[in-house]
Order: sequence, then structure tokens, then C-alpha cells
Amino acid sequence: MSVWRTKSVEQSIEDTEEPEHRLRRDLSALDLSVFGIGVIIGTGIFVLTGTAAAKYAGPAVPLSFVLAGLTCALAALCYAEFASTVPVAGSAYTFSYATLGELVAWIIGWDLILEFTLGAAVVAVGWSQYLVSLLDGLGLALPSAVAGPHAVVNLPAAVIVLLLTGVLVAGVKLSSRINVVIVSIKLAVVLFVIVAGLFYVMGANYHPFIPPAQPIEGGAGGWLQAPLVQTLFGLGSSTYGLGGIVTGAAIVFFAFLGFDIVATAAEETKNPRRDVPIGILSSLAVCTALYVAVSLVVTGMQSYRDIDPGSGAPLADAFAHVGRPGFATLISAGALAGLTTVMLILMLGQSRVFFAMARDHLLPAWFAKVHPRFGTPYRITIVTGIVVAVMAAVIPLEALAQLVNIGTLFAFILVSAGVVVLRRTRPDLPRSFRTPFVPWVPALAVLSCLYLMLNLPGETWLRFLAWMVLGVVVYAVYGRRHSRLAGAPPAPGPAPR
Ligand code: ALA
Repeated sequence: MSVWRTKSVEQSIEDTEEPEHRLRRDLSALDLSVFGIGVIIGTGIFVLTGTAAAKYAGPAVPLSFVLAGLTCALAALCYAEFASTVPVAGSAYTFSYATLGELVAWIIGWDLILEFTLGAAVVAVGWSQYLVSLLDGLGLALPSAVAGPHAVVNLPAAVIVLLLTGVLVAGVKLSSRINVVIVSIKLAVVLFVIVAGLFYVMGANYHPFIPPAQPIEGGAGGWLQAPLVQTLFGLGSSTYGLGGIVTGAAIVFFAFLGFDIVATAAEETKNPRRDVPIGILSSLAVCTALYVAVSLVVTGMQSYRDIDPGSGAPLADAFAHVGRPGFATLISAGALAGLTTVMLILMLGQSRVFFAMARDHLLPAWFAKVHPRFGTPYRITIVTGIVVAVMAAVIPLEALAQLVNIGTLFAFILVSAGVVVLRRTRPDLPRSFRTPFVPWVPALAVLSCLYLMLNLPGETWLRFLAWMVLGVVVYAVYGRRHSRLAGAPPAPGPAPR
């Protein structure tokens, strides 16, 4: 039983036709692009812009966005080639199974839980904070035991997650329609921030554009809290300067996360070989442009020294700073709408990856049943929804948010490497989209993702390694023996109906 066995691209495509496991092909290139924008614009721009500007990059935070965006663009070119070659649910998991072998595929599937499930739970908590502040603004306070920073159970977060789970079960086209409406609201608010904010920009706030590097008092909590790159190379803890721009990029990377989910929906797309590359690249381009514009405006409206790094609402704060607190309600409503689609699509991504893993019997095959009427993988969707709801309701997630970034960056590395491997092992496959300048673009993608990973704190690395070791243990105990490639029958469980 080799853990390096690969699943051929032809086999992956053939499996999508099994009646038990056939997803409904309903999506177009436009649906995918809007899906991409729906999942990309969220906490990153509505919350993290302030933290990254105040603590790390100062007015140069747009450069952090550019850097993170470029890293994602390199990886996106690799995702686009894969998705056009292997248009099968599961994204990085499926691609790795075709190239790097079963163990790596399992590891990446396990790793994607960090991006999708943990990511959705983190965003649900942010959603609940925006809801509380919006209701407060309208004079409707929720009891502090069930909402707000000191809640025992974060009820709004759990309720919204379960509602969205219902939408996902009911159909991918319905999810897409709801997404279109909400994304329009979100885009309108983001454009409003850019246009209205421009009137309040003052050139003086951009000086110095890159504040000089400063040592952090008290070493900022030792190596656990310092970016790993500073610890590894014996650099003193510092902030701002060029290093601050990179650390800022590692933080705002969260804002880009999600474009890869477009690839997980490949199997539900009418013409995936053409539409998935369009969906991935166009949504990423639109979002990068908006992010750079928003962050330029926000740091132009007030000095970075006045930005509260702990504020959950930096865009609203910027308007309050220039004497326009009334805009806060509108922005909060936009953020609330924005975060809703982020959760919806992160959970869509998670259910598709688990679906693909269960179809390969690396997870119990019972999960891979598709609903006879809705054409969705409803069992795994419901389980995902319950797990996200419970996590969001009871676990303090702030400390875990950066695990989402490290997990995603790792997935990008494997996908980028996989493109080069598949070009060597299967040069014959039809590729309707080809990553340019192979192997240079994938190599640069790997290096830039690795560099951003190294800019995350030591404790994030420790947690990440612990999670991955757990994943390998689970594979050794379950997946290795039950894998369809091992010729094992499906694990016992309730018989599929
Ligand atoms: N990119 C998504 C966000 O910023 C995850 O919320």
C-alpha cells in the first residue's frame, strides 16, 4: 500500500459521472466570478486594513495589499491551469492526488480545513460583532451573554451559519443567486467608501509613506509572537519599514483568501475548462484593485498613528474621524452583507473538498451522497455547517485566525509545485489554460508563499505543525486502508439511500 499512489486525471473525471456522486452543473463564468468576489471581499478589507496599517505598514499598507495580491496572482495562474485540466471538485486536494500522491493529497485536504472551516468560523465571529454594533446603532442591544466580545455562547454566529447551511443544501444555483444580490450590496458599499472617502484625503497623512523601522518595545512577547523570519535570522523585533510591509502582507493575505474556492466549484460549472480560469483571475483582479483603492483612501483620511489597531471597524472609524459618524451604519450594513457571502462560500468550498475525499473513501463514503433533488452533497454540507456553528459559538478564535493564512499558503505551495510535476508526468493532457513561464511562475509562487509564511508568528507555526501531525495520524489510522485506490470496499456506515 503505497502512500505515494496517484489517482489518474482520467479516473478523477470519470468518478464525477457516477450517478450517486453527480453534482448538478449549473454555474457560468459570471457566477464563478461573482462567487470569487463574494468570498474574497470580507474581514480582510473591513477589519484587517486598520490593524495592518496601524501596527505594521503605516500608509504603505496598499503596498502590503499589492504584495499579497501578487503572491495570490502567481498561485492563481497555477490554480487556473489545474482547474482547466482537472475540472473536478476538491481543488488543491484533487490536483495533489493526480500529481504528488495520496499522502500529500490527504495532507492538503486536511490542511484546507484550516482555510475553509476555521476561516468560516472566524468570519462568523466577525459577522456577529458587526451585527451587535449595527443593532446598537439602532438602539437594539442583544443580551451580552449571547452576543458581543464577552458572550458565553455566540448565538448570532451560530444562527447565521446554520441558515447558510440550509441555503447550501438547497442548491448551488440558489446559493449563487443569493450571492449575486449580496455581492452587489457589498460592492456598492466598498465603492461608496472609495468615492466618499476621496473627498477627505489629506496628502500630509501619506508622509512618511513608509515609516522608518522601529524596534518593538519589550520584544513583543518573545519568539512565539515574532514573525518566524525574524527569529530564524536573529533579527531584532521591529515594525514598519520594508519588513513591516511584508508582515502587513502576511496579515492582509486573509483578504485574498477564497479565490481558490472557485476551483472547488469546477465540477458544478457548465464549461469548466474555460470558465474556471476566467472566474479565478477576474475575481482576483477586481478585488486587488478595490483593496488598493480602499486602503489608500483609509490611510489618506487619517494618520496611521490615529488608527486603532484593535478596532473591528476601521472603515467606519475613518469616517468618524473626519466628522462623518453617520456613515458608520451604512458601512456596517455593507460589512454584514459582505461577510455573509464569505461564510457561505467558504462552507461551499469545505463541503466540496470533503465530498471529493469521501468519494475517494479517504473519509467515510457515506458523506459523498448527493441529494437526489437538490444535486448537492447535503450530508457533508450539514456536518460542515454544524461544526462551523459550534466552533463559532463557543471557541475564542482570535488567536487562531492566522492559522487560516498559514494553511492556505501551504496549499498554494503544493498546487504551484503540482503544476510543474503534471507538466512532466502528463504532458499529453489537454490544458485549455496554461500557466505562463513554467517553471518560473510556479517557482516564484512557491517562494513568495513561503516568504509570507515565514512572516507569520512562531506560535502560528507550532499550531500548524501540530495540526498537520494530527492529520498524518488520522490518515494512517483511516484513509490509508480505506482508500479506493487501495481496493478497499467503502467503510461500513448507514447504507446510501
Ligand atoms: N477573504 C475573506 C475575507 O477577507 C476570507 O473575509
